Amino acid sequence: MNSQPFTSADLAAEFPVIERHSWLNHAAISPWPTAVSRAMSSYVRANAERGPLDYGSWLQLEQSLREKAAALFGSDRADDVALVANTSTGLNRVARGLDWQHGDSVVFVEGDFPSNCLPWQRLASMGVNARAVRLDPHDPERSLIAALGPSTRLLAVSSVHYESGLRLDLARLGEACSRQGVLFCIDAIQQLGALPLDAPAVGADFVVAGSHKWLLAPEGLALFWSRPEARALLEVVDPGWRMYPDPFAFERDDAEAPAAARRFEPGTLNTAGILGLEAAVSLLLDHGMEVVGEALLDRTDMLTNALESVPGIWLVSPLQRARRAGIVSLVLDGVSAEAALARLTLNNIHAAVRGKCLRLSPHFYTPQEQLEQTIVLLRELANA
Ligand SMILES: Cc1ncc(COP(=O)(O)O)c(C=O)c1O
Repeated sequence: MNSQPFTSADLAAEFPVIERHSWLNHAAISPWPTAVSRAMSSYVRANAERGPLDYGSWLQLEQSLREKAAALFGSDRADDVALVANTSTGLNRVARGLDWQHGDSVVFVEGDFPSNCLPWQRLASMGVNARAVRLDPHDPERSLIAALGPSTRLLAVSSVHYESGLRLDLARLGEACSRQGVLFCIDAIQQLGALPLDAPAVGADFVVAGSHKWLLAPEGLALFWSRPEARALLEVVDPGWRMYPDPFAFERDDAEAPAAARRFEPGTLNTAGILGLEAAVSLLLDHGMEVVGEALLDRTDMLTNALESVPGIWLVSPLQRARRAGIVSLVLDGVSAEAALARLTLNNIHAAVRGKCLRLSPHFYTPQEQLEQTIVLLRELANA
């Protein structure tokens, strides 16, 4: 493995989970690093001892989160980031905010996670043609680009597929969208925090990513980035007091929602989650997303290279490094994914079943020995 961003002592201190568990389930929900639990514990203690007397400093951390999140999205504009409840909420803000016309079409991926299908399918009742496109495994982007046409208003993709782990070439899709005047909406929950993502550079209009997977933070929060011109196209369907830059000026008669992404934040936010996510994003930026991404790809390379030639194991996730992020999915001849998962779990190795696949998802800090032990167990299962 080329990149080892930690010494073992750092690892145990920063990620206490590794002492007892091999956590290969970051594509579902992640354990919290020490920095996150520390930030949240001090919030809990402060509330118990002083109530909200520290509110001003929490607001500063909330703004710091928007600034750091902007950096994760490859931008320096905190005004382009809104904090919303989850990925699904962000995607629905887009689906419900655009002024769809009868005869418009929206293109999305067949078999994508339900949160990135349902908001678009619901538009059919407004006369919008919601087209689910089956991806050609040899050239998935071409399938999507071929489906774009004069009536297409928006292309919606997940940058990394939750089951197969396929990573799409976002720049290629973004280029096709901008050439054809199509809005480009990305569900990045399976990428942000795992690999670098430069939203402006790939030509994205909207990007949403929830906190509890690769971002290593508590559930109940998502980062919603939008390009200013695209954001202006979205009606603010749920306005509220907190969307203004001066929310405590309660007596107001503003006719219009503000231009910044905060227009998508109507009310009081989840402060505990914000402090946790702020700490997690700081940790990722301190390591650097390039370092994090290379270390994670080294780990999925290690699993892929070791398992691809094992008789009885079929990799569903792509073999090429450029087509993967943090997910390695496989099926075993004659062994159900549930049975394989049960065997791993007995050894404190935590993964997931998605469809017929056993899904392994390490993160950049996963110790090599834990991957080696997983490989040994899967080889034994395949030979049994
Ligand atoms: C691709 C994808 N999108 C969306 C979600 C759900 O995200 P949220 O619960 O933040 O809405 C998941 C969760 O597994 C997912 O994998």
